[in-house]
Parts: sequence; structure tokens; C-alpha cells
Amino acid sequence: MEKLRVVELFAGVGGFRLGLEGWKGKSASSNYKKKLDSNYQVVWSNQWEPSSKREGKLQEANSVYHLRWPDTDGSVHFPEDISKKVAPEMTSKEVSENIPDHDLLVGGFPCQDYSVAGVNTKGLEGKKGVLWWNIHKILEVKKPKYVFLENVDRLLKTPTNDRGRDFAIMLATMRDLGYTVEWRVINAADYGMPQRRRRVYILAYHSKSAIKVKDAKEWMLTNGLMASAFPIIQKGGIVEFELNQSPAEITKKFGEGKFFDAGIMKDGLVKMCSYDAGISVEEYKKYSAEYRVLRDVLIDEKDVPSSFIVDGNKPLKQPLERIFLDGFPVDERLDRKGNVVQLTTELHKWVYLKGKKAEERTSSKGVFYYKEGPMNLTDSLELPSRTIITSEGGPGASRFKHLIELQPNVYRRLVPEELERLNMFPTGHTEKGKAGEAEVKIPDAKRAFFMGNALVVGIIEKVGLELNRRVK
Ligand SMILES: C[S@@+](CC[C@H](N)C(=O)[O-])C[C@H]1O[C@@H](n2cnc3c(N)ncnc32)[C@H](O)[C@@H]1O
Repeated sequence: MEKLRVVELFAGVGGFRLGLEGWKGKSASSNYKKKLDSNYQVVWSNQWEPSSKREGKLQEANSVYHLRWPDTDGSVHFPEDISKKVAPEMTSKEVSENIPDHDLLVGGFPCQDYSVAGVNTKGLEGKKGVLWWNIHKILEVKKPKYVFLENVDRLLKTPTNDRGRDFAIMLATMRDLGYTVEWRVINAADYGMPQRRRRVYILAYHSKSAIKVKDAKEWMLTNGLMASAFPIIQKGGIVEFELNQSPAEITKKFGEGKFFDAGIMKDGLVKMCSYDAGISVEEYKKYSAEYRVLRDVLIDEKDVPSSFIVDGNKPLKQPLERIFLDGFPVDERLDRKGNVVQLTTELHKWVYLKGKKAEERTSSKGVFYYKEGPMNLTDSLELPSRTIITSEGGPGASRFKHLIELQPNVYRRLVPEELERLNMFPTGHTEKGKAGEAEVKIPDAKRAFFMGNALVVGIIEKVGLELNRRVK
């Protein structure tokens, strides 16, 4: 059978591609030890970092992508703004020529406001610079049979003044283009993967594709593509409603509220529910054979560079002082004189940032107390890790970066290889890039940034295998 041709948008460092194609023929779920029966070929990919000062192909994510997947006759990477190849104002002919034909469109696109700017003689007019409308244009012109998108789960609830409106606009536009859409919020750790990362995965099937959804409720709960890849147990009732307004009408008012974690829309009828993960611990191995909890991904301690160690005894060059609310309890590891808390070591900064506080600050309106609850100073090695965020890298103390303690009073941050493993990327995937002909080393903080942006590859692999099984 011919391979399914894939276009990977907003590619970052290639999480979708690794899940669908595997790496060197091997699967993420086996930690790249066993063969992946992949039937996918990325024919065109795109990535561009708007805030970077570097040129497209010299941007770090693009340089990693180029090194790992050099261009070939059948696979080209475009390292510039997607809007140069597809934008709502372009003609269908332009888009048709700029983007190759493909069966599956994938991408983890930035979460923005999706509202419709207006409706003109040419049809829907999305807001300029809102990347959903670039995706929408491809769907309109190229009509790929399958679409697989990833986003933060907040997408199902935004904006706050009309919950669910953004996602309802997406659904309505896909309904109008002939797609049945299912979605699922998945926390990778609920299926045995090593990171507690909740993201929404959206799958759409064109009416001309081989996938036919007969009974939408059964599809969502038991026999559908998502339900087979990630079994669920329904929690609470099923909520149903007709999504029959136009995207422009929904922009004015949606009014149905947020979308639930599992759902499907077929012919404008939405069915959705909450759920619990429907697999047993014994089945975790099918999703991730080797990496389950933070301890599993750790590299050998002797290979950890000293810049990742947080020495509990190393004094700060310049001690810091923070003023707390009178009588507010302060972590016992910190020195306190009256309501003045003194930070004299690097570790104190971490303890203070992650700790509970009621700290004196000043605004234009006068003095106030900034309050924050406690976080654990260190991350448990026996659990799947907390979510990696883009600011995970760099030596500075932080409330959100991971910190581990392997021996009493010796702390360290996670190294890039460990962050890669938490996303089930091949170890070392982002170590180097290719700028022109030269190989370049990627700075550690950038590597952490990539992993904060990326996804858990095992999820893509399982969905890819299931899609392939059904369209063979
Ligand atoms: C959420 S990340 C996706 C990460 C990816 N799935 C991975 O595994 O690495 C979104 C990506 O879209 C890229 N991006 C943002 N605006 C873009 C644009 N206008 N054109 C192309 N890519 C863009 C960002 O640089 C970022 O890498």
C-alpha cells in the first residue's frame, strides 16, 4: 500500500513526525528499540519562530529539523512563516501550488483567539495573524482526508467571557468543510507515559475518506479511533447539542459553555462527556515500555554537568531580603529576622520561590501582600513528572522548573536528555542542528524550550497506528 502523505505544520522539532514515522524505523513506545510499522511519509513540513532574531533556516528548531530530516525529493522543510505559503487572503490556486497534496495534515498550533473578523463576498474572513485561519485555508483548498491537531486543553474553555466559543468556531468551520471531528483531552501519564501533560488532540475525517462514523456515541466511547487507541470509561452523563450556527454567528455569541474532555461532532451534532482513563497498570507497557516515572529517565549522575547542580551550601554573592506579612509562617530552611526573610544561598532562592508566601510588594496604589501557595521543593522520582514548560531551561532558580534530590541536600535540575525522554523523543534528538553545511550545538536552554513546546510522542504513535489500521 502507498504511504499516507503527511504535511506537518508548526513542526517545532518534529514530535508529530517521530510519532508517525518513528525514528530510524523504531517506535517511541519501545524507546526506539523495536520496529514501528509506519505507513506515513512527511512530504512537507514547516516551522518558524516569530520572536527569534535569526533567519528561518538558521533558527534553532529549524536547524534541528534539517539535521534530523534533510530535504529529499519527496520531503521538503520550509523554514519560514507559514503565511508566506498559505494565508486566508491568498487565492486557492496559489495555495494549491504552494502546499503539496497530502492525506493527513498534522500540527500543534499556537493557541490564539479564533474569532471571525467578518464575512465578505469570498466567504469567511478570519483575523489576520491568527494561525487557525492558515490551517483552515489548507483544509478548504487541499481537503486532506484526515487532520490531526494538538493544542493546550484551555482551547476547550476559551475565551472566559463566552466559554467554548473558540473551539466551537473551529468545529463549525470544519463541519462546513465536510469533516466529522472527534477530540480528546489526554494526560499522557494516565496511559503510562512519563509526563503529566494534558493536551487536547483533535482528529477530523473528511466525508470522502475511508473512515465512516456510523454511531457517534459508540465511536466516542468504545469503537472509534481515539477510543481504541486510548480506551475510556465514561464519567457522568453525555451532553448533546446542535452546533448549527455559522462561525460568524458563534463569534457574536456561542453560549453553550466549555467543551468536555471527550467529544465528537458529526453533521453538526455534538456529543461529549467526561471520562476516566480505561486501562489497567498492566497495560502501561504498551504505551511506554521503559519510561514511566521520573526516576526511569535519569541519566548517569557522573554525566550530569556541574551547571545543573544546585549546591545547598553555596552562598549567594549578594544575599537577598524579602519582607513577609507579620507572623506569616516561613519555611524552616530560610533565615528569618522578624518579618524579614533572608536568602543567603542559591538553594534558598528555590525554597523561597516554590514556597508559600505572603510577601510585601509595592504598586502605584501602595503596599500590598503577594500571596502564593506552596509547591514541593523537589519533584518525586516515583511519579510521572510535572509538565515541562518552555522556561524549564537555564540555571536561575524558579518556581516551575523541576528540581530533584538524589542525595541528602544535593539538588539538581533536569538535563536536556531527561526532558527529551519525558516527551518520549529519542535521547539527544535536539543536541545538534545544521546551519548551512555546519553542524551546530544547540544551547541547553533552547533544548529545554523545545521540550516545553513539544508533545508526548507516544500519543501520536498510538493514534497513527490506529488510523493506519483503519484505512489500510
Ligand atoms: C506548540 S509548538 C509545536 C511543537 C511541535 N509539535 C514539536 O513537537 O516540537 C508550535 C510551533 O509553531 C511555531 N510557529 C509559530 N508561529 C508560526 C508561523 N507563523 N509559521 C510557522 N511556525 C510557527 C512555533 O515556533 C512553535 O515551534
